[in-house]
Amino acid sequence: MDNRPIGLLDSGVGGFSVVKKIIQKLPNESTIFIGDSANMPYGNKSQEEVINLTRQSVKFLLKQNVKLIIFACNTATAAAMPTLQKEIDQQIIGVIQSGSLAAARTTKNNKVAVVATPVTIESHAYREEIKYRNKDITVSEVAAPNLAALIESMQDYDTNLKAVKEAINPILDNNFDTLVLGCTHYPLIEKEFSDVVGKDVKIVDPADQVAQYTYNVMKRDSLFNSADQPAKHEYYTTGNAKEFAKIGGSFLGDSNISVKHVNTENL
Ligand code: DGL
Repeated sequence: MDNRPIGLLDSGVGGFSVVKKIIQKLPNESTIFIGDSANMPYGNKSQEEVINLTRQSVKFLLKQNVKLIIFACNTATAAAMPTLQKEIDQQIIGVIQSGSLAAARTTKNNKVAVVATPVTIESHAYREEIKYRNKDITVSEVAAPNLAALIESMQDYDTNLKAVKEAINPILDNNFDTLVLGCTHYPLIEKEFSDVVGKDVKIVDPADQVAQYTYNVMKRDSLFNSADQPAKHEYYTTGNAKEFAKIGGSFLGDSNISVKHVNTENL
């Protein structure tokens, strides 16, 4: 038994898509989520910058005494997880292995598409992980440099739809039956993605498998909360706390969430 909270980090509001699935799958667990909105988007930065920024959020979570850390960010998983895992004595769970497993299990025609930030796409982490599971799968990868920031700025359906269309357009004729949302911001506008690719394409949100994997790890390592105290959920951002609460609350279906502003520099 371990009553400490689960820590999650992202460059911004995208982490809420993982928080939501973790709360659903592990309702007795407390969570602490930090979104580094002041420094987003991570997906257009150098690997070194992503490592340095992610390290700050990791330090913040370690100070909160979390029992494990979920990188609720594909960009941080692709660019920073291997380095930071060596630096700390705390289990880190990323999102790309889970998303790849889900994609390999979902496709029927062995054609998968992945849309993600430039950093994630350039790492080819999804392509490698998916092909590792089934070498016969063809993976179309497309980078969407502007989409995460657009989602962070909360636009209307039509604006999002146009941006998603533009982003997916280069691969739209590739006959894929499965689309991986390879950035945790994207599930916040899953409907727009679904409307662009059509109902015959299955959308994979890696967070579902991340929640299952986290459950498995916690069971294996006896990390479950003893449930003698109610689960608590804490939210922090380096950016505007009000905006963060507005997007997060509407996505979680809880308008009462409270978000604290935090400065993660010089921790
Ligand atoms: N949510 C992050 C991800 O999953 C990236 C967004 C960004 O570019 O900051 O990749």
